[in-house]
Amino acid sequence: MIVLGIESTAHTFGISILKDKKFLCNLRDMYTTKKGGIILDDATKHHRKVANSLYEKALKQSKIKENQINVIAYSNAPGLAPCLIAGRDFAKKLALKLKVPLVPVNHCIAHLEIGEITRAKDAVLLYCSGANTQVIAYASGKYRVFGETLDIGVGNFIDAFARTAGLGFPAGPKIGELAKKSKKFIELPYNVKGMDVAFSGLLTNLKQRLGKYELEDLSFSLQETAFAMLIEVAERAMAHLNKKELLLGGGVACNKRLQQMAKIMCKERKAKFFVPEKEFLVDNAGMIAWLGKKMFKKGIKINPKRSDIDPRQRTDDVNVTWK
Ligand code: ATP
Ligand code: FE2
Repeated sequence: MIVLGIESTAHTFGISILKDKKFLCNLRDMYTTKKGGIILDDATKHHRKVANSLYEKALKQSKIKENQINVIAYSNAPGLAPCLIAGRDFAKKLALKLKVPLVPVNHCIAHLEIGEITRAKDAVLLYCSGANTQVIAYASGKYRVFGETLDIGVGNFIDAFARTAGLGFPAGPKIGELAKKSKKFIELPYNVKGMDVAFSGLLTNLKQRLGKYELEDLSFSLQETAFAMLIEVAERAMAHLNKKELLLGGGVACNKRLQQMAKIMCKERKAKFFVPEKEFLVDNAGMIAWLGKKMFKKGIKINPKRSDIDPRQRTDDVNVTWK
């Protein structure tokens, strides 16, 4: 079976082709800026502009003809509405042309389920992306959220700080590089409330320190503080749920220091630590194809003419009927 995956929820347009359990390609084209954050109109234009050529490239790289595609999976939720619509439009047009069904896939759940490629079996998931920061575990038909950010996602927090410091989008890797150059820890607000975390106080505090401290030291202290908060709530969830595995997901999980802190915590608890490769952590269409295939095999599909988007769907809104 050949599944085409399409991702377009925010900054990244992606196309992936999955044949059985093998990814024939996982291509993406990301909208970036040199200064400042995402401009919605520009991101949408970007997706519409790159879609066709990326699709052609995907077919060529995968060495398949388009009539071999059996089903198309697209990310229909959650995300920025105009970006979602750009992906939906592309998916719908192609599905009608190829006369194949569509499978609408929740982007956040795709970030989690792609963890299967690491062979994690029953993990607590620490999902750290741009818009989301959640501690999740699967239980009776849903991905349950045990803790989450009370304000902004950890990625958006890092990007917002970096934007004020004059760095472009995405800033996670740049802050990571700056942090490596420092060992000087500056005490910052540490906001864990029960199982939840909050970043806006930390963001304000960091912004006020810009210009008064070295950016390297601020980046280092930002990471040490924010990541410690994440690891604390993840560890508490593992203890309460009596789970012996931790799985990282989302773009911020690319950060080597976060991975290292997670690894240390797991070692101390005698738990196993899993993290997928980078190409499956940042936004990508491979994870959409992967989950789309599982859903399709359980009979979940829609007529392309009825395809829709759901910009605000939450992880725990989704009935997981394919497991
Ligand atoms: P969501 O999945 O919640 O809808 P999103 O799709 O924007 O949000 P991802 O693509 O999973 O999120 O992650 C993007 C975030 O990852 C950005 O904030 C970016 O700065 C961050 N990021 C990417 N690489 C790294 C890295 N090496 N270290 C830290 N952060 C990183
Ligand atoms: Fe994402």
